[in-house]
Amino acid sequence: MSASEDDRRPTSPKAETTLVTAGRDTRTQKGFVNPPVVHGSTVLYPTADDLRAHRGEYRYGRHGTPTTKALQEAMMELEGPQCAGVGIAPSGLSAITTTLLAVLKAGDHLMMCDNVYQPSRKFCDGLLSNYGIETTYFDPLIGANISALFKPNTRAVFVEAPGSQSLEMPDVPAIADAAHARGAIVIDDNTWATPLYHRSLEQGVDISIQAATKYIGGHSDIMFGTVSANASTWSPIRAAIQQLGICAGPDDVFLALRGLRTLSVRLAQHQRSALEMAEWLSARPEVARVLHPALKSDPGYNIWKRDFSGASGLFSIVLKPAPLQAVDALLNALKLFGMGFSWGGFESLIVPFDCVTYRTATKWAPGGPTLRLHIGLENVEDLKADLAHGFEAFNAAGGK
Ligand SMILES: Cc1ncc(COP(=O)(O)O)c(C=O)c1O
Repeated sequence: MSASEDDRRPTSPKAETTLVTAGRDTRTQKGFVNPPVVHGSTVLYPTADDLRAHRGEYRYGRHGTPTTKALQEAMMELEGPQCAGVGIAPSGLSAITTTLLAVLKAGDHLMMCDNVYQPSRKFCDGLLSNYGIETTYFDPLIGANISALFKPNTRAVFVEAPGSQSLEMPDVPAIADAAHARGAIVIDDNTWATPLYHRSLEQGVDISIQAATKYIGGHSDIMFGTVSANASTWSPIRAAIQQLGICAGPDDVFLALRGLRTLSVRLAQHQRSALEMAEWLSARPEVARVLHPALKSDPGYNIWKRDFSGASGLFSIVLKPAPLQAVDALLNALKLFGMGFSWGGFESLIVPFDCVTYRTATKWAPGGPTLRLHIGLENVEDLKADLAHGFEAFNAAGGK
């Protein structure tokens, strides 16, 4: 079956058109553009025979509804022809943990990039370790040299491209080639670029994960995750989702689909504003370094240019050495940049971060305090004025 039953769609739409049109089935929706938000557990069968045979498009709320189907079809089409199925999860982290439980078993070895989102790491060192699965962390910049780290029981390699705090950009195709040569699969947390700007599954990744809480939702109002799997990995992902009882609330599914429809315009603006802010910050005397792979000065620039078609609104800065009270004065002086976790919504955010405490394969020594910024959809001149005011407070508190 085609991803949409609407016959009026173009045959080979570009990604922006796919975002708007995929997963829409206006005929079964009585002409409405959007699917209904189906709140449902029980699905009734017309006859005893139908019930015994589980005959019918839907069986039970946890296994899918017209709302989840619309979102899954849209995501599947966005990911491209390599995508064999899209699983839905109630958060980005649960998409990650469900994936790892699906593809690993006791006695297996997992390789995880050292810059991975910290809760993903905690899951590997906690529950996965308790279940007899060993994790080795690797330098995200290792590239093809990752070959040397494989063990006979290495089953999967996990990358985050780029890491969501330190923004190092791994060479995903080189890592995927090395993994496939050893019979291991590759999982990518592709939340930063989304499938719109990074075609993971076309670059050797077997499973591409979205913390859809971020850019797909786009409005800081849902917790949601998706798992896009290729033909060799979809079957275990689907089985794990069913066996673990993973599903998401219908309102969040609907909001994720609604976010998907406007992803291209939001992401283009996040990209533009973030690059302008990154360049402005590079010229500030208080800033030692800007960590943004789409900046020509960034060590990850060449890989980003080769493998990505765009950048999002998330990047980090390293300040020149300064006392904690100066950093706090900067943060406390800001009015537009909110202090809070997550990212990918319409609003600008800023948080201090420190990778020193948890990295094991690489040493994080930035040389000064580090801040992560998410550039939202506000006017960039207003954002610059807000940060300029923050830097005044920073300097007055002994930052310079
Ligand atoms: C890169 C990355 N992956 C996964 C997650 C987890 O997503 P969620 O908060 O939806 O569980 C986050 C959350 O911040 C993240 O930044």
